[in-house]
Order: sequence, then C-alpha cells, then structure tokens
Amino acid sequence: EATNGCQASLPTKHMETPEMADLDWENLGFTLVDTDFMYMAKCGPDGNFSKGEMLPFGPIALSPSAGVLNYGQGLFEGLKAYRKTDGSILLFRPEENARRMVIGADRMCMPAPTVEQFMDAVKQTVLANKRWVPPTGKGSLYIRPLLIGSGAILGVAPAPEFTFVIYVSPVGNYFKEGLAPIKLIIEDNFHRAAPGGTGGVKTIGNYASVLKAQRTAKEKGYSDVLYLDAVHNKYLEEASASNIFVVKGNTISTPAIEGTILPGITRKSIIEVAESKGYKVEERPVSVDELLVADEVFCTGTAVVVSPVGSITYQGKRVDYEGNHGVGVVSQQLYASLTGLQMGLLEDRMGWTV
Ligand code: COI
Repeated sequence: EATNGCQASLPTKHMETPEMADLDWENLGFTLVDTDFMYMAKCGPDGNFSKGEMLPFGPIALSPSAGVLNYGQGLFEGLKAYRKTDGSILLFRPEENARRMVIGADRMCMPAPTVEQFMDAVKQTVLANKRWVPPTGKGSLYIRPLLIGSGAILGVAPAPEFTFVIYVSPVGNYFKEGLAPIKLIIEDNFHRAAPGGTGGVKTIGNYASVLKAQRTAKEKGYSDVLYLDAVHNKYLEEASASNIFVVKGNTISTPAIEGTILPGITRKSIIEVAESKGYKVEERPVSVDELLVADEVFCTGTAVVVSPVGSITYQGKRVDYEGNHGVGVVSQQLYASLTGLQMGLLEDRMGWTV
C-alpha cells in the first residue's frame, strides 16, 4: 500500500503495559535494552514509503543479497527522548535528524522518508515504548532510525527495495567514565574520512571503519580516538562518534563542516548556546597544535551529550586539561544549559523541543 502517510496502528498489547518498565533505572549505560515495539515502513524504487507498521521489537528478515549487507547501503540517525518531571516526554530537534536523513539518503542513492513521515514515525515509536523512557535525571530513550537498502541485489547498484526502521533503547552515559573527563588518543595512521567521501553523512560504514583504531585505543586505556584530516594529517576532524570543541579564553573553536565530518545536531546546538552566552565561536580548520595551548576540550554528540576531555595523547605525548576538578567550567556550563533544555528544566526560547 503506497501512501505518503506513515500513521501506524498500535497492536493492542501496548494499551495493557504498566506505566514504567521493570528496569534498574539507576545503572543505565549505553547498551541495548530490548523494548516493546519497532516501527517499519518499506519503499520500492518509486520512492513512496508504505504505511508504517508498529511491530514487536525483534529480528528483521533480509535476503543474504540485501544491498545493506553486501555493499553497505545504509544510514542511521540518533536522537533522544527525555521524560520531564511532569511525566510528559520531550524530543530534541527531531526535524534536524529528519532533514539530515534526507541529505544522507541522497548521497547513498536511497529514497528518504519525508520530514513529516519521519517525525510521525518517531513520535509513534516513542509513544508505543513510553514505559521505557527513563525517569527525569536517570537517562533518556535513545531513538535509532535506520534506512537500509533491504532489497536483494548482486551487482553494485542501489537496492530495489528500502526499509525504514526505528527502534529505541533506554540509555545512560555513553562512556564508561560517566560524566568524568575522557581520555583521547590522536590517530595519525588511520583516517575516518577523505574529501569527496561519505564522512559528512551518517552512513553505517563510517562507524565500521573506526572500530579497529578504537579497539586498540581502548586496550591501551583510552576512552576514544580523535581523527586528523586525511590530506595534511594535521587538522582535527572528529572522534569515533562525536564532534570536538577546543576552548581558549572566550573563544570556542570547532572544525568547520566541509564534507569530512558529521554535521552534528548537538554540535550545532552547542554553537548557538555558546554564542548566546557571549562566547566567540569559530568554525574553521583547528590544528592539532592548538590542543597544546587550549584551556579546555570537549566532545559533543547525541549519544555523548557534552563530554569533557581530561587528556589527549598525540605521538606519545600527553596534554592534561585540569579544569575545575577535572571538568572545565565552559564544558560544565554548556552541558548544564543543553541538558536543561533537553529535559525541559530551562525555558526553551529557541523552540527546539517537541
Ligand atoms: C549519536 O550520537 O547518536 C551517534 O550517532 C553516535 C552513535 C554511533 C553511538
């Protein structure tokens, strides 16, 4: 049934579930918790997605020859739902994820759900799983929209069928350090992306290519890897799953969006929040040498939120950022403002929450 609407009908089981899931809300990490429902809609080469369905969360049937399995034709998004103190649920800038999926789908030769379809599907999925949205202050419901080439294809070409899936999982802090500063190591052998490649879209392959360096870094006790540009091996790009910011005095610098780094929604929000607080924000090439003289460094992302960086190691030398008890004052201030907005504790003057 081809339609532009994605209204999904909920199985009646949803109506009978208790208010809150039975989970240890005090100890959430960033690990998958199976929830009740997932959303699914399919699309042929005509670009019209079927009426979405809310299905029990579980495995998806795919041909071994599916485009996504063989040639990596896939994209994902990440956003979060927070529970307010009055029990209602807030999404943070979901239209931005919808728009980014449209741009990424074009790069990956896939049709995308419209912004309206995406929004409707996200809301339906969160409402169907609302007992999994953590209590205020205990974490959030991570929402993972996926767009994949699900149709069978043998030669290198776009898949003949695409599937749009959304699943959710309650999450806490991304890094095992919690909110404590993370330790980064700069990688100068492997690169995450090159000019003209797909570094600027949220394609699944970008996250497979960082696994090896990340594993080596973790074995050595680092939290994550920070990448340099592939041309000069000198300018900061991003960490495995987050953007990077460098603070010096009243100026906050972050690598410009030029196709090799992900245009993070948290990145963009932090830039606006920082400017509204009177900081000067520069989006430009940021040299690795600037880390030596920085006051603070932090990472941003949907999953990592605002993560202060405690140390960075580059070519065997470590720079420590002492900050205020290990967490820089600017990082702390921006973290508090962003999460205050996301949790509905601060007035949303920008109109970012839904
Ligand atoms: C997100 O922050 O949503 C991400 O995409 C990071 C993810 C790969 C864990």
